[in-house]
Amino acid sequence: MRPVELSDLNAQLGIPKHVAFVLGPGGLPTAEVQNDHATATISMYGGQVLAYQPHGTAPVLWASKHSYYQPGKAIRGGIPVCWPWFGPHPTDSELPAHGFVRTSQWAISGTRAAADGATEVRLELSDAEQTRALWPHSFHLELIVVVGPVLSVELVVRNTGEQQLTYTGALHSYFTVSDITNIAIDGLDGVQYIDQLQPGPRFIQKGAIAISSETDRIYLDTAGTCVIEDAGLGRRISIGKAGSRSTVVWNPWVAKAQRMRDFGDEEYREMVCIETTNAADDRVTVPEGGTSRLQATIAVELDA
Ligand code: BG6
Repeated sequence: MRPVELSDLNAQLGIPKHVAFVLGPGGLPTAEVQNDHATATISMYGGQVLAYQPHGTAPVLWASKHSYYQPGKAIRGGIPVCWPWFGPHPTDSELPAHGFVRTSQWAISGTRAAADGATEVRLELSDAEQTRALWPHSFHLELIVVVGPVLSVELVVRNTGEQQLTYTGALHSYFTVSDITNIAIDGLDGVQYIDQLQPGPRFIQKGAIAISSETDRIYLDTAGTCVIEDAGLGRRISIGKAGSRSTVVWNPWVAKAQRMRDFGDEEYREMVCIETTNAADDRVTVPEGGTSRLQATIAVELDA
């Protein structure tokens, strides 16, 4: 984006003591939010929240020091929006993993300072020739990000075409943890899951999740809140959701981290993904003219 456009954005949509538009990592245009509750960074490339940090605690979201920040590549961290398919394309392995909106340039559609001191930033993306070449549907997406004592990220999908559309997707949140071997993830006890590393049978989660090896699971038919218990950072991160009946838990561990060019060899220790998804059987069909929503609500509670 040319600097003149950034200055236009600031003139039209910047809000003193809330949000300014700057060149962020890799020179990508970002919304920098700073208010009485928290700071946050939102990239227009990918429509991606990159950072969220309530005052008085460590960063909540994680991003790799080895991430690409360049058009054509996904950003490794924050909350990538995976859409309109989750994971590999179901029938065409040539198409990009996790869809194309995480590598699309979004526009800012609005900003607002809320009465409680929170800041709202809205981004939008519609179909274009390049998206229709990958996926033959008309759509309008809006990502509504509210940065306050809690972070809310809501993807609103509007079907602007003349036929129904069906999608899968995710708010693929990466969280900062003190040490992957020293956290517990609550909220999925008794839930059935697909282990993407052991295709075949389905498994049932017993108790809290402890991670001690590569983990890549799709928890099924679950709408509940997950909680990351992190004694090392003295906090609990809760991830509530709406419009989602599946949750993905992912950590690449040693060998996969080494294979990924945009992921440091040791970085698997300091992150975990708890993804608010529409994955596997959890497909969403939107009728012509209809709307659907996928929302993650992320809150931090500090130990007393
Ligand atoms: C997770 C998938 O959602 O994303 C994993 O379950 C995948 O299988 C991971 O490895 C990262 O995907 P990508 O495309 O960002 O490397």
